[in-house]
Amino acid sequence: MRPTEEQALAQMFRRFARHEFRGVSPRYEQLSELLADRPELTEPLLAAGPGQRRAILYFAAVQYLLRTVAREHPLAAYLPTLGGTRDVDKGLGVALADLVGGYRDELTELCATRTTQTNEARRAASLRAGFGRATEHAEGRPLHLVELGTSAGLLLITDRYACRYVGPDGRTETYGPDGVPEALTMAVRLRGPGWPEPAATELTVADRVGIDLSPVDATDPLATDWLRACIWPEQTDRLTRLEAALTEVSRVRPRLVAGDLVHTLPTLLAEIAPDAVPVVFASMALTYLDRTARRRLAATLAEVGAERDLTVVVSEASVAGAELFVDGRPAAAGPPDVIGAALLTVVSWRDGRAGVEVLGRTDGHGTWLEWHPSRYPYARPVA
Ligand SMILES: C[S@@+](CC[C@H](N)C(=O)[O-])C[C@H]1O[C@@H](n2cnc3c(N)ncnc32)[C@H](O)[C@@H]1O
Repeated sequence: MRPTEEQALAQMFRRFARHEFRGVSPRYEQLSELLADRPELTEPLLAAGPGQRRAILYFAAVQYLLRTVAREHPLAAYLPTLGGTRDVDKGLGVALADLVGGYRDELTELCATRTTQTNEARRAASLRAGFGRATEHAEGRPLHLVELGTSAGLLLITDRYACRYVGPDGRTETYGPDGVPEALTMAVRLRGPGWPEPAATELTVADRVGIDLSPVDATDPLATDWLRACIWPEQTDRLTRLEAALTEVSRVRPRLVAGDLVHTLPTLLAEIAPDAVPVVFASMALTYLDRTARRRLAATLAEVGAERDLTVVVSEASVAGAELFVDGRPAAAGPPDVIGAALLTVVSWRDGRAGVEVLGRTDGHGTWLEWHPSRYPYARPVA
């Protein structure tokens, strides 16, 4: 017999408690165990589409309420990302139940209309190495950055951050502009002996533009509160980084365009001045496209690359990135069971001819980078 919707939610919360939150977020772990036994509290999540019924959406909605309409609620005292200092105890579940009881309609509306959204500036450390390679290929011309799935545009200002690389032997190098504060320093741990030399290359960015289905205005406190709410309560370092990057991106104010990335990209590329090299990049965004949309994107890039010099930098799962440009699964992807790993891949068109290089692997949150560049023949997408 198939489980009812309520039973499916209970199983989902139990799974999140034991496999996602355990050892990472004691607060979400305890609350998920509680929610698995209390269907009346999880009912608001049934308003979300079947693919969105996930504990992280429910908790993001809860945190959003605490940041907006329920600021004084006792649950906030348990959540470090909201300034809370209380340890996990029995009162945590009582506080959640009280919040859900008082704000059931608001919670339901958020679950129905939102999706979890992260914009992780730390991913800039891996991307910087890709942009360094793009700079080598640009031979003195400035880069025009175009981000697909940009969220608040935090990765569009990768050149404004300091990026710190920490090798397994303790070697540490920081590349980027001088005088960058620690909060805008994106650190990545290197796994293995390879060193990302191109990250040392100075980046010259002529202009930047990002596309997103729902771009986040970094100067709008309500819009950015959703990004804050999506951070797990114990991850205060992520929150600090987010705040600093939001402030910086508010200064730069890159152009963010609302729209589907596949449909919007050709128009934006057509606007780029001929003396700059477009660098189209994506991080953890193409994974949301279906196969047809990914192929259309690859076909657009091939058409533009045939007409003008172009570089593509993607940090995506192999199937959503590297495999759009090479035949089959590149050996650099490693065993298929490395879950959540992304391949940092650079595709460059020069005088109409394309080459592909997989620079290495990184994890989804940008905490580590494994540098082992290898070249592949470019496979033109079949439309
Ligand atoms: C996980 S976030 C990653 C954001 C950012 N690239 C990063 O790495 O921090 C994925 C983003 O892609 C956007 N997105 C998903 N599908 C899209 C599409 N078809 N067109 C435009 N943006 C899309 C989402 O709205 C979301 O902001």
